[in-house]
Amino acid sequence: MNEHRLNRFDGSIYLTGFMASGKSTAGKKLSALLDKPFRDLDEEISIREHKSIRKIFEENGEAYFREAEWKYLLDLTRNFKGIVSLGGGALQSQAVVDHLKVNGLLVFLDTPLDEILNRVYRNTRRPIVFNDKGDRKSKETLYNELKTLYSNRIDFYRQAPVRIQTHTYSSNDEMVQALLQKIQQHV
Ligand code: S3P
Repeated sequence: MNEHRLNRFDGSIYLTGFMASGKSTAGKKLSALLDKPFRDLDEEISIREHKSIRKIFEENGEAYFREAEWKYLLDLTRNFKGIVSLGGGALQSQAVVDHLKVNGLLVFLDTPLDEILNRVYRNTRRPIVFNDKGDRKSKETLYNELKTLYSNRIDFYRQAPVRIQTHTYSSNDEMVQALLQKIQQHV
């Protein structure tokens, strides 16, 4: 692999993809391999707002979260160079996609919807798992909602110049190695 090109690349790498596609895991591994700093946009929001993402959704609502998400993302594109993993809903409009493509390399972690449903259902960290009363949604309700969100967002994700089918690799390490090679062809 021609590592020189990667080492000379001084833009940021933005990891996008649907919920639970492994963006944070891949981001941390890429950060270690490339020796570049890492930020997780959700973590950034949580730290700066002093509460978990679930609490922000519960107490302030999704619209507030989306505004904060855009504000802190803008901040990162201006003041941070490295690897950034985005939340699954961060590509809210064409303007956001264009902004990220101008400011760095956008990478799409592409995971099949069935796999996503299982991962999201198993993990109670995400606000989408709960209804307004704070109870867990049924698997069917969750699946229908995820399907709608996925079809609304897929055209944004697909505009990333680098795309990797995450489920075709036998381990995260193998996937990230393949991703590195794809990234290298675009920098
Ligand atoms: C969201 C995805 C989450 C988080 C929030 C909303 C979404 O991030 O930003 O729960 O709307 O897809 P992950 O993609 O890391 O789960």
